[in-house]
Amino acid sequence: PRASSTYAHGRVPSAAAAKAIASVESAYGASIEVLRGIVNSMMQEMRKGLAKENGAAMKMIISHVSNLPTGKEKGRFLALDLGGSNFRVLLLTLDGHGQCKSESDKYVLTQELMTGTGESLFDFIAESVQGFLESRGITETLPLGFTFSFPVQQESINSGKLIRWTKGFHASGVEGQDVGRLLNEAFARKGIKVNVAAIVNDTVGTQIARCLDDQNCYVGLILGTGSNTCYLEDVTAIPKWTGPAPKTGKVIINMEWGAFDDEIQRLPYTPHDRTMDAASINRGQQLFEKMISGMYLGEISRLVAVELAESGQLFQGTLTSKFREVQAFKTAMMSEIESDDTVDLSLTRDLLHREFGLPLNKITIDDRMIIKRICELVSTRAARIAAAGIVAVATKIAKTHDCTVAVDGTLFQRYPNFEHRLTAAVAELLPGISTKIHFKRSEDGSGKGAALVAALAQTQ
Ligand code: GLC
Repeated sequence: PRASSTYAHGRVPSAAAAKAIASVESAYGASIEVLRGIVNSMMQEMRKGLAKENGAAMKMIISHVSNLPTGKEKGRFLALDLGGSNFRVLLLTLDGHGQCKSESDKYVLTQELMTGTGESLFDFIAESVQGFLESRGITETLPLGFTFSFPVQQESINSGKLIRWTKGFHASGVEGQDVGRLLNEAFARKGIKVNVAAIVNDTVGTQIARCLDDQNCYVGLILGTGSNTCYLEDVTAIPKWTGPAPKTGKVIINMEWGAFDDEIQRLPYTPHDRTMDAASINRGQQLFEKMISGMYLGEISRLVAVELAESGQLFQGTLTSKFREVQAFKTAMMSEIESDDTVDLSLTRDLLHREFGLPLNKITIDDRMIIKRICELVSTRAARIAAAGIVAVATKIAKTHDCTVAVDGTLFQRYPNFEHRLTAAVAELLPGISTKIHFKRSEDGSGKGAALVAALAQTQ
């Protein structure tokens, strides 16, 4: 049962629409039992991944970041941010008192760059850095933190091989290669002098950036185009650790939780999840990420709507070719629809008309209510499942008391009610103590966090 208030101002759907909605509700409910199952299997997989290299689908990568920032870090640093639809170059100045100034340039990453040759991708990166340095008259060799938001088997703080591309990237000749070396070679081709001091996952940058003013920040979380988590682990809990232990006895683990369910499938997959996966560039991979992150939620929702339309329960059975296009329905549209607070959901109607050419008179109030409810259900399932992952991490490190989770990513920052749904599910899973898990926004982990890691690398 749900409050009808999220429908158009208390309007009640017709019996037929209610039936359609009920069918989606039962498929996308993510019950508390399902969530508990995810918590348990996630904890098991964490242990397996920590036990040995390639011990589990979830890689549990040792980041080589063992020291947390103190605020005394000082100097000028470059940071590169690659991993979403934009590429950024940043110049950061840490003042030694925990403050950071930054300036940056943003470049659009075309589909050709994402899926062309690795060489052209890295040349593009090097050219952008060159332009950035020249436009600011910077001639000194600055340390650089490279936020490369993909699974990298780190061999050291500034080297490591790309395990595989995720999030729609597919540039050739990069998987299995050392991305630090590829970057250095591209810089050499252009004759640019920089010192690649660190390769940083965006989760790690997010956690580190937040650590400055929060001693209880043990976890970094990204809920954006993709999703992933990192956390601070005791080296004694990492059987696969080799070599001497760091002085702090701790290290940040980049979980790469997107791949959590890739080997043994336990998530509550629907036929829409399967169809979406089958049409994706990395079929059978990142199945957990595909259920919870921004790149995929729109597509899942679209497939639910297509099924209802095909059975005559939506848009009186009419569908435009645009609505049938893979990936045509974006998660940002879901955000817009969920924010629609008009009496008759007219914003939702306008969006469906504008984006998909659906005739205005075919989009009944029932249709709008169904569409809004689909968005609500698909995104709530995402938030609930992500919450189960976070509860697993907090339980594993026994930090269910006063544990800050630093979060970044558009889904968390911009999707209406996402944060609320996340915290509500944590509360359901951990009654009584959930209030001690705090989700806090982390500002620009991919910039400031990368600069801090580069600074720490100089002293480590
Ligand atoms: C994907 C990447 C991971 C990254 C996440 C969020 O899951 O594999 O490295 O942290 O997206 O950007």
